[in-house]
Amino acid sequence: MKEEVLINKANRLINTGCVILVTSKYLDKTNIITLAWQTPLSHDPMLIGVSIAKTHFSNELITKSKEFVVNVPGASLVDKVHTCGTVSGREVDKFSLSEFNVQDSNKISTPGIKECIGNLECQLEEIVSVGDHDLFIGKVLYAQAQNDLFDGECWKLSPEAELIYHLGSNMYLISNKLYKA
Ligand SMILES: Cc1cc2nc3c(=O)[nH]c(=O)nc-3n(C[C@H](O)[C@H](O)[C@H](O)COP(=O)(O)O)c2cc1C
Repeated sequence: MKEEVLINKANRLINTGCVILVTSKYLDKTNIITLAWQTPLSHDPMLIGVSIAKTHFSNELITKSKEFVVNVPGASLVDKVHTCGTVSGREVDKFSLSEFNVQDSNKISTPGIKECIGNLECQLEEIVSVGDHDLFIGKVLYAQAQNDLFDGECWKLSPEAELIYHLGSNMYLISNKLYKA
């Protein structure tokens, strides 16, 4: 037996790519947004896509600055991840609120988050309007990961390298079970 799922909840069935924190900066405004809707799009060039609601402050900042940083939070940051996804940078400074430290980027002027275990610096290639969101397609100009947690191929089996998955509302999944096929 299967039961119909409301269309406006259908994304919850596949909504389990790891949660990321995207940082943006335009002039003197720096912001952090929590995103579950992210996807790699191309190997060469390395392109990734992040889908951000048209009303969000981050959408405005990235549209203007044409760059952003994808920050990968480890499991220990889950409460801060939730906070950055429930308040808008229009009202609060989320770096102060979450007590995240700014980390200078290597190739772009938007900073990353020091406490995250990986950072991908992206230059905006294209914005595709998709319903009430915009898909920001970014070209990765520089990427780095904590060297004891990423072996050059994939994340290692370590409690610190556990990633965060979002099930919906305030429910998260944190798992670290490796299976070699
Ligand atoms: C776990 C989680 C995942 C989220 N994923 C997305 C997403 O993929 N796209 C989006 O537009 N908003 C997403 N949100 C909502 C934004 O993070 C939230 O509305 C945020 O406050 C917007 O911040 P801003 O106005 O400072 O840009 C998510 C929130 C949470 C808690």
